[in-house]
Amino acid sequence: MTTSVIIDCDPGHDDALALLLAVGDPRVDLLGVTTVAGNQTLDKTTRNAQRILALAGAEKIPVAAGADRPLVGDLTVAEDIHGASGLDGPELDLPVADVAGVHAIELMRRLITDAAEPVTLIATGPLTNVALLLRTHPRLTRQIRHIVFMGGSTERGNTTPYGEFNIVTDPEAADIVLRSGLPLTMIGLNVTHQALATTEIIAEFQGMGTRLGSVCAELMTFFAGAYRRNFGFGHPPVHDPVAVAAVIDPEIVRRETVNVTVELAGAYTRGATVADLHRRTKREPNADVAVSLDVDAFWRLLMAAVRTVSTANTAG
Ligand code: BDR
Ligand code: CA
Repeated sequence: MTTSVIIDCDPGHDDALALLLAVGDPRVDLLGVTTVAGNQTLDKTTRNAQRILALAGAEKIPVAAGADRPLVGDLTVAEDIHGASGLDGPELDLPVADVAGVHAIELMRRLITDAAEPVTLIATGPLTNVALLLRTHPRLTRQIRHIVFMGGSTERGNTTPYGEFNIVTDPEAADIVLRSGLPLTMIGLNVTHQALATTEIIAEFQGMGTRLGSVCAELMTFFAGAYRRNFGFGHPPVHDPVAVAAVIDPEIVRRETVNVTVELAGAYTRGATVADLHRRTKREPNADVAVSLDVDAFWRLLMAAVRTVSTANTAG
């Protein structure tokens, strides 16, 4: 059985791997890709999504650009992590298909309306587009099966001491999604920090002997340098594909169904996710929160998908 998905993303090195996983794994049907400002400005994240799809021979998948800034306040991009292009490292100058001539919200509406079954939204950037969709088309929510988002943490943050980048970038959007009443899964730093692109993983990409494998190796080599410089990590965590993997194989993460809120007002904690793991409040559970990851199974899935994409097209 396949799950119909839309990926809303801000590529981004790990978003790129999330897209490749969705293109390459037969258990998901990637209906469309929408882009949001986050890791870089909207023009760059959109271009990067188009480049990755072109590289994967998947230019038929429609791409639409969405919000160019958070709902409130200004955009601060993650140039220190993803570089000036948002996808620094490999040479990715290749022809790309045109973007759909509609806003991301409209592409999502059309894809969800036309789908034969309810659609799963996978969000790997700030939740701006998803929040706008829910507010603009409230009746569409019946046709949304599930929202799986990479964001937040049950522990510490990576952008502020308690705030994770995607949620800190647009806390109001995250608040709208968390209050939506829809089935939600939060894939936070507490699990994605286990999905490390080790030296062996990078060598495995390179060892595929394909252009796509080399691009993945170069992306992860750049990412490794950024994580070493900024966080002192030995290996970089590939956050976003964990959200796709959790849709492909729900057993890959263990989840706790709890209440999650987002701090909107804290002087030092704006954008922090507050997950009531020990159920100490009377607040109703509103999300499944990933609490552990089967790391080996995750890498098996991702490598198999990249191999499939590599061998299925000449560009890869
Ligand atoms: C998230 O922030 C971005 O830099 C990554 O692409 C990921 O979605 C991790 O905090
Ligand atoms: Ca991302």
